[in-house]
Amino acid sequence: MAQPLARLAILLSGRGSNMLALAEAVRTGTLRGLAEIAVVFSNDPAAPGLTAAAALGLPTASLASHGRKRVAFDEEVVEILNKYDINYVLLAGYMRVLSPAFVRAFAGRILNIHPADTHQHQGLHAYEWAFANQLAETKITVHLVDEGLDTGPILAQRVVNLRGAATLAEVQRRGLAVEHVLYAETLRDLLVDSLPAS
Ligand code: GAR
Repeated sequence: MAQPLARLAILLSGRGSNMLALAEAVRTGTLRGLAEIAVVFSNDPAAPGLTAAAALGLPTASLASHGRKRVAFDEEVVEILNKYDINYVLLAGYMRVLSPAFVRAFAGRILNIHPADTHQHQGLHAYEWAFANQLAETKITVHLVDEGLDTGPILAQRVVNLRGAATLAEVQRRGLAVEHVLYAETLRDLLVDSLPAS
């Protein structure tokens, strides 16, 4: 019998290129037949990624985090997400540190993509860091989210060759090309591994 599709919540704060790559993977690629996007959520109602998701016909939700206390805000977000019967939460450029209560609500089921090796760099501006330090390569990381900042168990890493990348834009272009493939592939492997043996 076919397995039910894993229901994904994708959380973003900005542009949404990772959300678009995941949506494409669900529609025609790596995640087809394995997952569906239950909701795209943003803490910024004006996020371009939210508009892009709506244009694809995906369910969207938002709640402005500006000026809100972290714990109370996150409690409301959990309430919103709970309406969508979520199996996995995928952070895709969601520029907020999650409160412990949020992490516990979806324990072991929250993934993040970080544009560096999380053992070497945490937080914001990872491509700027790689460019400023003239790194020959950086590593895109997909990891499970725990209560720390980019400290959760690593699920997958992939090297980005930065040799000859003369501008920050080129560093980002090369990195994002890897991000857009790695996130879907890592989730696919996780979902396939969690299927009952037939
Ligand atoms: C991506 O590069 C993602 O890895 C990064 O934000 C960007 C979002 O782009 N996330 C972090 O830096 C998390 N610490 P997108 O909105 O186009 O997916």
